[in-house]
Amino acid sequence: MIDLTCISCGRHYKKSKGRYYCEDCGSIMGTLVVDYDFTGMKITRDMFSPTASIYQFEKLLPVKNHSKVAGAIGGTPLLLFENCFGIDQLYVKNDGMNLSASFKDRASIIAVNMAIEEGYDTIFCASTGNAASSLALVSASSLLRTVIFVPSSIPSGKMAQLRAAGAEVNIVDGSYDDAFDQSLKVGFENGWYCRNSAINPYLLEGKKTAAYEILVQMNYRVPDYCIVSVGDGTVISSLIKGFEEFKTLGLVDRMPCVIGVQAENAATLKKVFNGGEPFVPIREEVHSIADSISVGYPRDVIKACKFLARSGGDLVAVSDKQIKDAIVELATRTGIFAEPAGAAPLAGLKQLLGNKRIQKESAVVLVVTGNGLKDTSAVGGT
Ligand SMILES: Cc1ncc(COP(=O)(O)O)c(C=O)c1O
Ligand SMILES: [Zn+2]
Repeated sequence: MIDLTCISCGRHYKKSKGRYYCEDCGSIMGTLVVDYDFTGMKITRDMFSPTASIYQFEKLLPVKNHSKVAGAIGGTPLLLFENCFGIDQLYVKNDGMNLSASFKDRASIIAVNMAIEEGYDTIFCASTGNAASSLALVSASSLLRTVIFVPSSIPSGKMAQLRAAGAEVNIVDGSYDDAFDQSLKVGFENGWYCRNSAINPYLLEGKKTAAYEILVQMNYRVPDYCIVSVGDGTVISSLIKGFEEFKTLGLVDRMPCVIGVQAENAATLKKVFNGGEPFVPIREEVHSIADSISVGYPRDVIKACKFLARSGGDLVAVSDKQIKDAIVELATRTGIFAEPAGAAPLAGLKQLLGNKRIQKESAVVLVVTGNGLKDTSAVGGT
């Protein structure tokens, strides 16, 4: 049984077609949290494998699989590098290994499955690039028509994925935040299924499986820190929720400290978080070489701030130069080539080590959310 709870007012909703957010609080303040009735659910450590794909966690997901490509999503490698970047045990979760080469596939598979189950013929999404290219590739083998809204700043690799997958692409004259607004207008007017960050509460459910996988792959040893980049705030919320759920299920006895990394000139969510409770959303112009996290009106801001506050997490900001350096250092030391947002966690780690907020003895997981081939411009590509 699934229950949806408004993050702001606590009102409950039943899972139903067309229900995306709390009607009292609206789409930003009223994002919904998906809760499961764990009573009587028998979940044991030996049910999960370190290499299996996302649907090994079906009992903890909101929809059954109806797609042909679920086997190519999740189960991404967690690699251990000893004595690397000043950390005794550094783990890198390489989510650039997913079907479309980003973390976003974990959400797209859930959206595609929901759209199929609820009988839609069209699915839409606004995106800085990854969510769109992910949706286009994940839905390609289904009967769904896929309509995409992206800003013209989308990197060429991500655009190539969209074109190759045959999606209908609308290039919006403006920012990602403008593309988001336009997509909602067109998508809801036409009655299409919405795969937009935050507003669709089920996306986070797919993304949380990365946290489950980290714990399974570490043989249920809990890392001290898990570091990930942040734009809208869904990915970080999902990791916190995933770690919390395995604790609630009794599979582990504590949580890692989850730390989010933003780009200095696109640190809107951090500003809201630092403003303290009650969290008040802001909208501003932002710029960064890390296009995936250039978000000036974060749509999952309330969930991210509340989850961070209750779990003892934090946010840091790094410069574009530090992100650029991190791409090269990560590739040079580990062989993992990340797009700018994927390398940002390493820039964050270096800052946290520098100001002694993280000690070298800590077990740290960096989540690399996107493959470097998607956007090579920061390191000399076109
Ligand atoms: C590669 C990559 N990293 C990180 C993020 C940040 O995720 P969120 O917007 O949910 O905070 C995104 C989102 O587009 C992304 O594509
Ligand atoms: Zn509400």
